Order: sequence, then C-alpha cells, then structure tokens
Amino acid sequence: MKVTVCGAAGGIGQPLSLLLKLSPLVDELSLFDVVNAPGVGADLSHIDTNAKVTSHLPDDNGLAKALNGTDLVIIPAGVPRKPGMTRDDLFAINAGIVRDLAQGVAENAPNAFVLVISNPVNSTVPIFAEVLKKNGVFNARKLFGVTTLDLVRANTFISQLDSSNKIKPSNLNVPVIGGHSGETIVPLFSLGAPEFYKSLDDEQRDALVHRVQYGGDEVVQAKKGAGSATLSMAYSGFKLAEELIESINGKHSFVDSSFIYLSDEIEGAKEAKQLINNESINYISLPVKLGPRGVESIEYDVLNKINDHEKELLSTAIDQLTTNISKGVNFIKNQA
Ligand code: 2OP
Repeated sequence: MKVTVCGAAGGIGQPLSLLLKLSPLVDELSLFDVVNAPGVGADLSHIDTNAKVTSHLPDDNGLAKALNGTDLVIIPAGVPRKPGMTRDDLFAINAGIVRDLAQGVAENAPNAFVLVISNPVNSTVPIFAEVLKKNGVFNARKLFGVTTLDLVRANTFISQLDSSNKIKPSNLNVPVIGGHSGETIVPLFSLGAPEFYKSLDDEQRDALVHRVQYGGDEVVQAKKGAGSATLSMAYSGFKLAEELIESINGKHSFVDSSFIYLSDEIEGAKEAKQLINNESINYISLPVKLGPRGVESIEYDVLNKINDHEKELLSTAIDQLTTNISKGVNFIKNQA
C-alpha cells in the first residue's frame, strides 16, 4: 500500500504523515509539498516502523514521482483560515491548488483512491471530480471529501454534556450528513446520541448543533491567526484512510460518512436523491459502506429516520451546498 500525501509539510500534512508512518497498513509513504517535504521526509524516515518514506518537491517532475504507482492520495494542501474567514473565503487560493493536484493524479495515478481535505471541501471535491472527468478517469467510488472531523466533534461535544461522566466519546457514532462548512453540516443526534440527549431542551439542542457546525471556528479563534484545526483534522483524515485501506484489503467493510458524488451506478444513490427530495444534488456527505472498490453503497436509510428538526436543517444545508458545488464545477467548466 503506497500512500501519497500532497501538502505533506503543512499543518495537517505533518501530523497526518506521522500517523501514516506509524500505521502497519502503509508500506510506502510518499510526501509531496511545494516546500520542506525533504525535511519532513528525513525526520519521519528515522522512525523505526516499516513504511518506506520518500519526499518530493515540484522540481524535477516531483509530483509525477510522488504519485507514480500510488494506491491512495490524501490531499490537505492549501491555505488555512484566519479568524473571521469562512471556508468559502479560501476558494480563491485553494481551488487552483486542488485543480493542479487533480491533474497530476489524472496523469500519474488515475486508478488511485483520493481523500480531499483541502477546504472548502464542498467545492474542492467537485473541482477534483471535474478534472478527473475531463481526463476521462473519474470513478465516483474512489473520490472522498473528508468530513470525518464533523462526526468526531459531534461524538466529543455530546459526551461533554453528560453530567454522569459515563459516556465515552469513542463509543459514540453520531451520523453527520450534508457538507463540511457551517450550516451545511447536519449532525443527526436523534440517531446516534446517548439516551440523555432526549432530556435536552430546544435551546441546549440548538447550541449543540451550532457547536458542531462551527466547531472549526473555535480552533481558528484559539489559534489567533496561526491557522485552523490541524491535529484533530489529521486524526480524522487518518481515521478515514485507515478504514478505507482495510476495506480495500478486504479485511472489513466499514460504514463512515464521507462527501461523495452521487453516481447512479452506486447502490443507494437514487434512493438518497429521492429522500433528499432534490434530484439535482450530485454531492453530499452520507454514511457509505466501504469495500474493496471504495464506496460499495450509500446507506441512505438515515434519511428515512431523521426527525422534523433535522429535516429542516438538511433543507437549509442543501440550498447552500448546491451553491458551493456549482462554484467548484463552474471553476473547471469555465476554464479553457
Ligand atoms: C475544520 O473543520 C479545518 O475544515 C477544518 O476545522
């Protein structure tokens, strides 16, 4: 299993690369960045785990070498938010970075699985897909936007409200659907929360939902201009990568939420669109079953089970998501 990290020397890229170097599931770790990749690579290469580390800068066909023969590409490249910015404010810089990396993947690793972390994920995943489509190598089962941090936050934040201190966040599994930005993030506490959730009043419930939707801002503000979530995001990206690798290897099939393209070829996609009541929505984060081909099926049944309040949240999310998706698609379509 060769894994390539694009943006490996950045705030997310470094801890993510460390986690991958520690994983027995990774045989080769290939690091690419526009600066400092060799330094990060030299440092990681001293760790006495089995993964072989290589590092690449753009010179001398570095991206092609980094991607050559890779099975999984993880992309945290780009700039992070500063206080007061939304993820959408990053579009101007990150859209071009993601486009160029997608072109590199299309040319050098067209069969690889890809996890996109670079924000705004609601737009960068459509950008990535459009570039792969233009090159005739798009496979919806293999492209994922990482929304795992929203699930991680939902589990953590609800557990912090438990006055008995008995609930362990690691035992929780609150589904979060929609997108990865503000009101597009829709936590489904009615489906995965512990029993005490039912005793929360509307104000407490709304505050909890708001905290998950804007959890990233807590980190941006606490870092005072030095960036956004890096460690919890690296953990989340690694968690999804690990589940995906185990699924590709045929060991287990995991269900996790991820932002994916609702291709009609994927089991459950049509049903999901019908239940969302929007046939034109092409991308959304939903629970997906992972297997050797990547996305095996979309586990749309959560949409049958959500309560009326969550339906309202989803409807707001879909409106914003539609705009974010079109922005990404048009960015590529409008280029010669
Ligand atoms: C977050 O949710 C960085 O998008 C990332 O904090």
